[in-house]
Amino acid sequence: MDFPSKFLAFIPFLVFIIAPFSHSIPFIVIHGIGDQCANRGVKQFTELLTNFSGSKGYCLEIGGGTWDSWFMPLEEQANFVCKKVKQMKELSKGYNIVGLSQGNLIGRAVVEFCDGAPQVKNFISLGGPHAGTASVPLCGSGFLCLIADKLIKSEIYSDYIQAHLAPSGYLKLPNDIPHYLEKCRFLPKLNNELPHERNSTYKERFTRLQNLVLIMVSWKKEQIFAFQTQFGPLASFSHLILKGSPNSLSMKVIC
Ligand SMILES: *[C@@H]1O[C@H](CO)[C@@H](O)[C@H](O)[C@H]1NC(C)=O
Ligand SMILES: *[C@@H]1O[C@H](CO)[C@@H](O)[C@H](O)[C@H]1NC(C)=O
Repeated sequence: MDFPSKFLAFIPFLVFIIAPFSHSIPFIVIHGIGDQCANRGVKQFTELLTNFSGSKGYCLEIGGGTWDSWFMPLEEQANFVCKKVKQMKELSKGYNIVGLSQGNLIGRAVVEFCDGAPQVKNFISLGGPHAGTASVPLCGSGFLCLIADKLIKSEIYSDYIQAHLAPSGYLKLPNDIPHYLEKCRFLPKLNNELPHERNSTYKERFTRLQNLVLIMVSWKKEQIFAFQTQFGPLASFSHLILKGSPNSLSMKVIC
């Protein structure tokens, strides 16, 4: 499982979004689960977007790439990106984030949690599970997947899994919300869902974005199984755009 090649089909659309308001503001790309910057798909995506938009783009790698995208908890992944963006002189005057699937949650955590970082101006989200997912994508074959699939089948809200399987941080089982709120370490914090732990700084930082663009990649009902097994296929797309400053952390989507 890696870069869904249909993301490339969004390039013209993304250029159309990025070019007018970026005035060559650089952007970073944060890839999805099971992927890495060195892979052809993400590389090509970043390059094409750079070439067509005229803004310099950087794919930011987190740790060792594929492995860490599965096994490093998301808040740690976000801390990693936070450190990197603060070190990159190219971004010091502000930058845009382009998130791909899981990478969107990391990007949003950078916006909300990263102290003393350069300003994120625009956030473009491609297929981001911002409200969580009801199932963890099954990984497939190979050594890494043997481990991942084993973890997926265990108690997903246990401390151990929360600390060792990245997607468990945004698994929101609709029939187990109390457990989710109590034990899930990442998404409840990111979405300010815990009444006694709400932090207005997160919301304030998030609403400082100039533009938030959510592009939803949706799956047909009958393909949910395919979704579980290979995080695809990407059957149908609807383009969902929110323009202007979002004023609430609950993501409203306009069709
Ligand atoms: C982007 O432009 C550079 C320089 O012109 C070129 O070498 C590269 O092949 C282009 N990348 C893609 C993916 O088209
Ligand atoms: C809210 O988050 C900010 C930024 O991370 C932090 O500095 C602050 O201490 C937090 N406030 C509370 C009440 O936890």
